[in-house]
Amino acid sequence: MRVSDHQLAMTTTDAEIAALFPPDFLWGVSTAAYQIEGATLEDGRAPSTWDYFATLPGKVYAGETGEVATDHYHRMPQDVALMADLGLKSYRFSIAWSRVLPTGVGPINARGLDFYERLVDALLEHKITPFVTLYHWDLPMTLHERGGWLNRDTAYAFADYAEMMAARLGDRVDHWVTHNEPWCNAFLGYGTGFHAPGLEDMQSAINAGHHLLLAHGLALPRLRALTSPTAQVGITLNVSPVYAADAQAPTLQGVEHKDVIQNRWFLDPLFKAHYPETLFSSLGVQAPPMEADDMALISAPIDFLSINYYSRAVIRGSTQNASYEEVNAIEGSEYTAMNWEVYPSGLTDILVRLHHDYAPPRLMVTENGAAFPDVWDGEHEINDSRRLDYLRSHIRAVGDAIAQGVPVHGYYIWSLLDNYEWTEGYSKRFGIVYVDYASQRRIIKKSGHWYASFLAL
Ligand code: GCO
Repeated sequence: MRVSDHQLAMTTTDAEIAALFPPDFLWGVSTAAYQIEGATLEDGRAPSTWDYFATLPGKVYAGETGEVATDHYHRMPQDVALMADLGLKSYRFSIAWSRVLPTGVGPINARGLDFYERLVDALLEHKITPFVTLYHWDLPMTLHERGGWLNRDTAYAFADYAEMMAARLGDRVDHWVTHNEPWCNAFLGYGTGFHAPGLEDMQSAINAGHHLLLAHGLALPRLRALTSPTAQVGITLNVSPVYAADAQAPTLQGVEHKDVIQNRWFLDPLFKAHYPETLFSSLGVQAPPMEADDMALISAPIDFLSINYYSRAVIRGSTQNASYEEVNAIEGSEYTAMNWEVYPSGLTDILVRLHHDYAPPRLMVTENGAAFPDVWDGEHEINDSRRLDYLRSHIRAVGDAIAQGVPVHGYYIWSLLDNYEWTEGYSKRFGIVYVDYASQRRIIKKSGHWYASFLAL
């Protein structure tokens, strides 16, 4: 029986964990525009694919939308003050493209842009480093009506938008991410229909994925041109280490297959300038339409690779046919409210692997966290010790990767606040701060108090 990671982490003190990290490490929290802002119809913001998708019958838990969310658009100054109280060093947020460019391509909506200007200024006043994600899945609806990510032009529109944001915020923002989890946007949005815009076609997923990558490549030089020489530009991928449940050939094939689709689809083009050989055949599709320079643009050097890590995948193949399944009830393992296995050492493993196989100059963990069914006592307490343990053991796992020589430069908890969990609506809570949606009151959970005390060490 393996000693659980959880037990291991518990045998280390907070001070010992903190000592694994360099002094300039970026400690923070992450959010995304559609999940927290609300005010979707205010100050000139136009609808995005998520506004549209969320209203489709049966797509989202209880038909919930981001129309109000955590009302962060109106409560931003208080939320930034809360971050300062927690002692955060950095805050990763995303820009709602359709708030700043309602049609996706111009003209600029000054009132929308002003919100992000104020947010950045408020963060800097509190000495919190702003970390901007340009695209977290909320494509302006006007661009969707022209084909969305299936249309190559969307990649050029994205590069123009990125340049406009760098022109406005580049004097104050030094950390930029082009895309958050393009895999989710392509595979879940265009392949399985689980996310916006809700298409169900694998060829479309591959084509959309290519245009997302191209958008990243086109945006890179334009972001660099208008930000400071010390600014860092990267991309965020959701990666998941894949393990074999047994040593049988079908299982090992399944592991390879899953790794290609889950991880290498985006990693290989970014770092090796080509798609994995078996990607298209394993999805039963063709290569996407490409132009001669695409791979050179896509694989241009980035300053960091950021990853979002929640869990691992365990694969078991079947000897009867060539198929495999993901095992998700492993004896002795703990599962979160998302039914994701708690597996901290997977984070160490994936960081070490990325360092060895792809060697980005820096790595960051831009999301890590857990949903649990929190109970608020109606006053000041949310005793989320399971989340606290999850975070602590994963932070320790990042420390282990650093000890093995992996250049990890930041760690961000998903999330600051409970928020709109996409198709799960408000039913899943990931925050280190509880949100009482009826009153929009914020209550720091036990995990939030712990993070603050850890950062104060
Ligand atoms: C993501 C998402 C977040 C989710 C979180 C929990 O980037 O997957 O960025 O928006 O809320 O991952 O599922």
